[in-house]
Amino acid sequence: MTDPAAFIAGLPKAELHVHIEGTLEPELMVALARRNNVALPYADVDAVRAAYSFGNLQDFLDLYYQGMNVLQQEQDYYDLAMAYLRRAAEQNVLHAEIFFDPQGHTDRGIPFRTVIDGLWAAMKDAERSYGLTTSLILSFLRHLDEAAAERTLDEAMPWRERFIGVGLDSSEKGHPPSKFRRVFARARSLGLKAVAHAGEEGPPGYVREALDLLQVQRIDHGNRALEDDALVARLAQEQMPLTVCPLSNLRLCVVPDMTQHPLRRMLQAGLVATVNSDDPAYFGGYMTENFAAVQQALGLTRDEIVTLAGNSFRAAFLDEAAKQRHLAALAAYAAAAI
Ligand code: HPA
Ligand code: ZN
Repeated sequence: MTDPAAFIAGLPKAELHVHIEGTLEPELMVALARRNNVALPYADVDAVRAAYSFGNLQDFLDLYYQGMNVLQQEQDYYDLAMAYLRRAAEQNVLHAEIFFDPQGHTDRGIPFRTVIDGLWAAMKDAERSYGLTTSLILSFLRHLDEAAAERTLDEAMPWRERFIGVGLDSSEKGHPPSKFRRVFARARSLGLKAVAHAGEEGPPGYVREALDLLQVQRIDHGNRALEDDALVARLAQEQMPLTVCPLSNLRLCVVPDMTQHPLRRMLQAGLVATVNSDDPAYFGGYMTENFAAVQQALGLTRDEIVTLAGNSFRAAFLDEAAKQRHLAALAAYAAAAI
């Protein structure tokens, strides 16, 4: 095929699994620490990067929650989101659905309004300046209890029109989807979409719970669903999208080596897999780098790459006309590539 790296860079794509707090690059972290007089346990930017060696999800989360302490003012949230959206647009991301973790901020005394006003202003400016579309998904921290998630949803209600759905993230093991059944039911009754991280470190049963109890419309990660043939058959039959994150999986030791990544097996099983960056500042790459790493390790064909990008539009929370417009742009791009 055409140089795969160039093909991937220009590929029209959607990002469906990115945590805005996970786009905090070490340079911005250090700059915001200085601006806000927040002490950081690192001497410089290189020391921040050097600390990013993770044995599992919790190792990462400990640094992720520490890193977000530098976010204090509305302008910080604006700068964070603007930097991500500029990069996304440069990589031909046409649409981004972005998680944010309100409890990671409000539990430190940052008002919900500060967080959402900063993110929202950046999203609107980026839409105008870069031409992509964006949405927010409010994610509950699953290591906290359901009552805290309920309070977070209450607190978010004045800004109901600014987010399209709810998600579930943070420490997976020991915090099954069943813990959040009621708050998800309430969110769905408010017309919100539902997604949940499941099967990243947790067992296939957590993926089933996300489907049956939370009635999600996408599974975030879903890797461990492959351990259960009946579950794979169900996910394929229901065409349930999985938002897969290759560099995240590698850096959090969900896969031992990129050549062992299950992405091709997912496609071959008929699953609606997509490629995403998760926490790009922590895991070594944005959308293009994720596609490139997994393409190279697995030798993905151009058709497989186009299928993955097509899945990202099909799985997006976009109206049918927008999906068809993006799929047509993708088809035209693929046809024009030599
Ligand atoms: N898994 C769970 N929680 C998270 C992640 C993740 O990959 N990134 C940010 N919060
Ligand atoms: Zn995630």
